[in-house]
Amino acid sequence: MWYAAVVRGPATSTSLSPAGVIRQTTVVAGSGGRTVIGVVAGASVTVSIHGCTPRAYSESSYPRTAAGGQAGGMILVTGATGTIGSELVRQLEARGAPVRGMTRKPQGPLVQGDFDDPDSLRKAIDGVDTVFLLTAPGPWVPAHDRALIEAAVDGGVRKIVKLSAIGSTDEEMPGNWHAAGERALRESGLAWTILRPAGFASNSLRWLPAIQAGQPIPNQTGLGRHAFVDPRDVAAVAAEVLLSDHSDQTYTLTGPELLSVPDQVAVLSDVVGSPLSVVDVPLEVYAEQLRAAGLDEAVVTVALRGAELIRSGGEETVTDDVERVLGRPARTFAEWARAHFA
Ligand SMILES: NC(=O)c1ccc[n+]([C@@H]2O[C@H](COP(=O)([O-])OP(=O)(O)OC[C@H]3O[C@@H](n4cnc5c(N)ncnc54)[C@H](OP(=O)(O)O)[C@@H]3O)[C@@H](O)[C@H]2O)c1
Repeated sequence: MWYAAVVRGPATSTSLSPAGVIRQTTVVAGSGGRTVIGVVAGASVTVSIHGCTPRAYSESSYPRTAAGGQAGGMILVTGATGTIGSELVRQLEARGAPVRGMTRKPQGPLVQGDFDDPDSLRKAIDGVDTVFLLTAPGPWVPAHDRALIEAAVDGGVRKIVKLSAIGSTDEEMPGNWHAAGERALRESGLAWTILRPAGFASNSLRWLPAIQAGQPIPNQTGLGRHAFVDPRDVAAVAAEVLLSDHSDQTYTLTGPELLSVPDQVAVLSDVVGSPLSVVDVPLEVYAEQLRAAGLDEAVVTVALRGAELIRSGGEETVTDDVERVLGRPARTFAEWARAHFA
């Protein structure tokens, strides 16, 4: 029997042989998706998935007011080509909301905007009522957050919903990249909502190459557990708080259950119908692999800190914030896996 694994975001399809080895990976034509594969030294291989280009939508297809503005207030989605942003654009469009997606490399209906280019932000924000602020992870997050918030204040934006991360705190510590932006937003005078998601269920897509090579899945977090959240739920919460009033709220978005990597792999084995194994990767080995892959020392430090936190049981938070906002429970990891690997 063959299995098809559909990777949402880049829309990659993968055929799985009876032995559980992926033999072929194809980017589905017409999706506009792209998959970036980064090889980490040793047995561990990481796939970094960037989301697909949102399917065609047109600002001009939304009703216009007599004054020529958009009914309902234009929403700017930054990070619109990424995992969360592409799904958010899709969901907002499905709800009939006026939406404008931003990317550094304009394509189709997306507008150009770069957090490092204030002029481009001014143009992207022109006529916008509400912004979804997503900054790509890295030490530049505080500067990128501030650049967008400043442009939004200057441009007359009413409200910003910022994507942060679980565990974000005002404490000074390595990798606490979202704290400055959260603070700047709270002090901006704009209406604000902050979303702090747990690790995305889709991070397990980085295991595809190991599965493909018939190798055990590398596990840097031991038996430590985490409440992985489905990116579709993160986008659904974002859409809801963009379209209704959740001012001055900070939501921590988790899945409904705590799972270790071996737990996740057991779920995946079940879904694909063939046994997958796990190999423990000590943190020292993980560090060497990341350095050998050429990652910046700041990024290595943060990756290690994250792995160590989960390994030690320090990130076992489960909330009902997804359900509080959406009125239905958060999706399980099994639901995510079935939607992407079944
Ligand atoms: N992955 C997790 O488990 C996890 C958990 C909690 C929180 N988070 C947070 O989620 C965010 C990442 O979300 P994601 O995974 O959806 O992102 P992603 O798929 O990595 O996409 C990153 C997006 O950022 C855009 N971008 C990058 N540099 C830019 C720049 N200089 N100016 C404007 N846009 C830029 C990219 O657009 P272009 O390349 O098209 O310009 C792309 O759309 C981070 O803030 C991270 O801290 C992630």
